[in-house]
Amino acid sequence: MKLWSKGFEPDKMIEEFTVGADRELDLKLARYDVQGSMAHIRMLESIGLLTKDELEVLLKGLSEIAETIERGEFTIEPGVEDVHSQVEFLLTSKLGDVGKKIHSGRSRNDQVLVDLKLFMRDELRSVAKAVERLFECLQKQSERYKGVLMPGYTHLQVAMPSSFGLWFGAYAEALVDDMQMLAAAYKIANQNPLGSAAGYGSSFPLNRTMTTELLGFEALHYNVVAAQMARGKTERAAAMAIGAVASTLGHLAMDVCMWMCQNFGFVSFPDELTTGSSIMPHKKNPDVFEIMRGKCNRLQSVQNEIALLTANLPLGYNRDLQLLKDIIFPASTELIQCLDMAVFMLEHIRVKENIVDDPRYDYLFTVEEVNRLVLQGMPFREAYKKVGLEVQDGTYKPVREVKHTHEGSISNLCTKQIAEKFSKVAAQFE
Ligand code: ARG
Repeated sequence: MKLWSKGFEPDKMIEEFTVGADRELDLKLARYDVQGSMAHIRMLESIGLLTKDELEVLLKGLSEIAETIERGEFTIEPGVEDVHSQVEFLLTSKLGDVGKKIHSGRSRNDQVLVDLKLFMRDELRSVAKAVERLFECLQKQSERYKGVLMPGYTHLQVAMPSSFGLWFGAYAEALVDDMQMLAAAYKIANQNPLGSAAGYGSSFPLNRTMTTELLGFEALHYNVVAAQMARGKTERAAAMAIGAVASTLGHLAMDVCMWMCQNFGFVSFPDELTTGSSIMPHKKNPDVFEIMRGKCNRLQSVQNEIALLTANLPLGYNRDLQLLKDIIFPASTELIQCLDMAVFMLEHIRVKENIVDDPRYDYLFTVEEVNRLVLQGMPFREAYKKVGLEVQDGTYKPVREVKHTHEGSISNLCTKQIAEKFSKVAAQFE
């Protein structure tokens, strides 16, 4: 059963190879396919290609299909290629000839494009919501632990005093930039490709402004060829944003893994949030953060996969584009899982107090000492030398006191200002 059937059925092996995972993946597009069809037929009626009565019948038929989708009862039958075919077949078998009218001025090429735009828009919004949950958790923990100092490192060597307030807060603010990337990807997704048909438009006087409004898109992809080019570019922008969030989260996961190591011992978790070893009875491993780190590293390769899949394709639709779904669909789901897991874990994190009292961290405070001398009038380079020589001959005595007051430092985290930055970006998803 093919929309393009011309009296012969394709070979079974050809069918399986070309349909691939579509019957399963397309289920994610089903609700959007119906939305797109509803907008399309309203527009067809407005330009006289459907009567009012036909429109009513078709809208009712499509609503019934939408209900089966929401109930989780919609499937793509064996032998049917994709969601677009399934919806049209259902409509035609229910309503007869009027069902055969909905595809005027449309191709599956712009149909799948519009489905994907609507889908990506929702997915990016869900990712942004998950980022917001982690952002809020990080800000809360940053305020809660702002008085707990920890060593700051450069070159993985003891450097200067830091704090858990700074650490949690740093990842919160890093997420603001990642949200900008998500917002950009969202803006790219939020454009209407419907009406580009096979990629070169139609001789019907389609009203593309009308479908743009009906589907709540922010803008129209005007040029029909540009609209078709958006297949791949939309996914690529989303993958870049997903990769940006993943890189922040992967980095955080690495910190936690390292700090759970006994050599550091800065953080720990309740036993039931750790995992054990089959041979070493003492183990409480950070598997959650290792899996998170691995998943986040893999997620950063999604944009490369998309780049390679789409590199140098001929202009216009090519079936290769179908494979984008296999790559991008699992990515947002996986990222949201990682983000939510991070929230769950960080809500239960235990941080060690008084870490910096350990003599191994004495040198964290050398710059504090230099600055104290500068404030007493000694030129910086002389003060630097004096403290350097004390370290060298073993007479340096740390004063474990930290007075960092400028914006974004230990005692002035600017949590509120960072929250305001976040809200501004988050507002772009409304
Ligand atoms: N499953 C196809 C895809 O995802 C739908 C479009 C088919 N178009 C075509 N010309 N064969 O790209």
